[in-house]
Amino acid sequence: MATSLPNLEEAHRVHTDTTTYDIDAVRRDFPLLAQAGPDGRPLAYLDNAASAQKPRQVLDALQAFYTRDYANIHRGVHSLSQRATDAYDDARERVRAFLNAREAAECVFTRGSTEGVNLVASSYARPRLKPGANIVLTRMEHHANIVPWQLVMVGTGAELRVADVDSRGVLDVEGMIGLIDENTVIVSFVHVSNALGTINPAKQIIAAAH
Ligand SMILES: Cc1ncc(COP(=O)(O)O)c(C=O)c1O
Repeated sequence: MATSLPNLEEAHRVHTDTTTYDIDAVRRDFPLLAQAGPDGRPLAYLDNAASAQKPRQVLDALQAFYTRDYANIHRGVHSLSQRATDAYDDARERVRAFLNAREAAECVFTRGSTEGVNLVASSYARPRLKPGANIVLTRMEHHANIVPWQLVMVGTGAELRVADVDSRGVLDVEGMIGLIDENTVIVSFVHVSNALGTINPAKQIIAAAH
């Protein structure tokens, strides 16, 4: 695809390194933020987990793709199909590199997190949910990360374990790690809560789960 896409590794470095974090540069990537909020001040948008705003690079790439390259992928031999296939494969490879996954085939695109969690619940978890098995969540999860697990457990005899959050909105990490045992099938938790602002120690919890 002719549109230049952002370098994801560089974007990730800039956006996570607080010493070089340039909020105005980040804001300029989002055309929607160039408007005032209801109080007349620059619009602040914090509801990304519900509906993420798209940076100009994404808007431009979509516009270019739909106006120039859109076609079936991995089937047609005509030029549009080949360009669409290249763009599709390139996007998958960029996401693989960004996530540090072994193969692009490990990266499954869904329309949102509820669909993604339901897919993991029904494909990976369901066959493993036997009496005595458990799934560990936290009390700060959105319904998208609660209801799919509740549904998939019905009639299996497995147990849902929920780690506590204190009155400041801080996760009881030690308590959560204590809920994980050899019968845990999945540990599923929000990294940064969009309701509380809490940043959970993902590395520590993932290490305990593994
Ligand atoms: C924190 C959080 N997680 C998950 C979801 C569900 O996301 P999706 O619409 O991608 O399924 C929402 C939607 O509002 C949300 O606010």
